[in-house]
Amino acid sequence: MKYKKHSKFALFALIAASLAFAIVFLNPVQAKPPVSKAEMKKQMNILLKAVKKGDDLWHTAKLGTNGLACGNCHPDGSASNPHTWPKYQTNLGKVGTLREMINWCILVPMQGPMLDLGGDDMIAMEAYATYTHRGVKIAPAKDEQHGAVPVKSGPGYPLK
Ligand code: HEC
Repeated sequence: MKYKKHSKFALFALIAASLAFAIVFLNPVQAKPPVSKAEMKKQMNILLKAVKKGDDLWHTAKLGTNGLACGNCHPDGSASNPHTWPKYQTNLGKVGTLREMINWCILVPMQGPMLDLGGDDMIAMEAYATYTHRGVKIAPAKDEQHGAVPVKSGPGYPLK
């Protein structure tokens, strides 16, 4: 009888010790932020490089053949509504992506050759459109035409 009591106590002590160990040694490891501040900064800088590239592409006539740039009709990324894609777009005749719509605008209003959908240039243009809409509420399938987040640094070049 006495022996059994001790064994129960030993089991309880073992569970308690394991729990304490898990809380003290394992939990802090799991509670750590997934990336360090330095890593976050590094990743942000890489993203901002793509955004800058997209900004440049958005403001060059080189993508088309008729002298127009995206920025002529979509200053600061306005009316590109990146947060509303994918959605049904009558120009595409289907549920399409932001990238497909960017290509439609290169092909039709700018009379240029479409970009590779997965290429660095297209990714950069998407990054720019999305970056200029930071903080805009996500509302898929809405066909609103509001401008981008207002910029303080001059028309067309929000990153300077
Ligand atoms: C000559 C003016 C013009 C130029 C230049 C132009 N677009 Fe457009 N863009 C439009 C018009 C007009 C629409 C609306 C099409 C529709 O909904 O019928 C549009 C729509 C869009 C949309 C979809 C917006 C929405 O409501 O969801 C995106 C994204 C877009 N353009 C990106 C671009 C990009 C990127 C470029 C440059 C490669 C560009 N556009 C160049 C006129 C232009």
